[in-house]
Amino acid sequence: MPLLESVPRCAKTHSVRRYLARMRNFWVALGLAIIMSYCLVMKVNPSYISTEKSLPLKNIVAGNRSVVEAQESIALVVCPPMPPNLKGRLKIEENVTLEEAEARVRGVERGGFWAPSHCRSRWRVAVIVPYRDRFSQIGSFMNHMHSFLQRQELNYSIYIIEQEGDDLFNRARLLNVGFLEAQKEGPWDCFAFHDIDMLPEDDRHLYHCSQQPRHLAVATSNHHYRLVYYKYFGGACLMAREHVELVNGWSNIYWGWGGEDDDMWRRIDFSDMRIWRYHHTVARYKTITHPPQVLNKNRYKILERNTGRYTYDGLNSLKYEVRSVKRRPLYTRILAYVGSSEEKTIS
Ligand code: BGC
Repeated sequence: MPLLESVPRCAKTHSVRRYLARMRNFWVALGLAIIMSYCLVMKVNPSYISTEKSLPLKNIVAGNRSVVEAQESIALVVCPPMPPNLKGRLKIEENVTLEEAEARVRGVERGGFWAPSHCRSRWRVAVIVPYRDRFSQIGSFMNHMHSFLQRQELNYSIYIIEQEGDDLFNRARLLNVGFLEAQKEGPWDCFAFHDIDMLPEDDRHLYHCSQQPRHLAVATSNHHYRLVYYKYFGGACLMAREHVELVNGWSNIYWGWGGEDDDMWRRIDFSDMRIWRYHHTVARYKTITHPPQVLNKNRYKILERNTGRYTYDGLNSLKYEVRSVKRRPLYTRILAYVGSSEEKTIS
């Protein structure tokens, strides 16, 4: 009898144990599912998590006086966080002349300034384009970028920073010049450092600042829409003013093609920031073909040597002279002398 009695008691304990084990599995599975979906969302679109809320909205407008006055004269509501008139995938026109672009693009103030008239932009973005000898690409870029940025309801301006002379190209110095010169007529919240041959293919790729620096040119047509390598930061990227200042801007010592973007990756990493990217299906770019530039064969050596020099090679050591500032209908062109590749660089 006692034995018989003990059977059901044992069975009861057993089934309670089984029940508890099942519950424990359930909670573990739920926990895993939550972690996995969080990771998925972060991967698919990191900027869904947060960014707009955490960066303060500023209550002023950047750009030239008429844009600023037009916006500030009326009490406008802040534009919605998700622009309502995005198209998604875009048609790319590669052979638009500057005259055609000027005839098509409407409402832009001379110098390339724009802000929406129906709402107050959440973000003030300066687009900085390093440039030399690519006149045939300006038309397509302006034609594409103005409507792209306007649909995103940004307060923006486009600056073309042209290197004077025929020395080796120094993309990073031009980006530093653009940052410093644009600041004088900002204030701008974010800086899109953007090559002229990169045309975004999807306007859901938002050009607002994020909490962390953002690499834009994730999937480009010249690389078969694949990320070139994990630490690739070239083509186009977006950084808040504070990010640029924290890393002391771009290195000044890369002459010729390559290396300066890898250096920026390291600066960001060194400053304990992380690089965010949108998903490659949205962060797509059509690249316009052009003759290759002179390669900087020493770039990897310089890169290796560069660790630890961020604090004294960058914005605070840049020397340049602005030769002219021209306000064109769709952009501001700043011609700058940025020094010579022959000069002795800090080692
Ligand atoms: C260069 C980078 C360039 C990348 C992709 C690297 O070798 O150092 O500057 O962006 O190749 O083309």
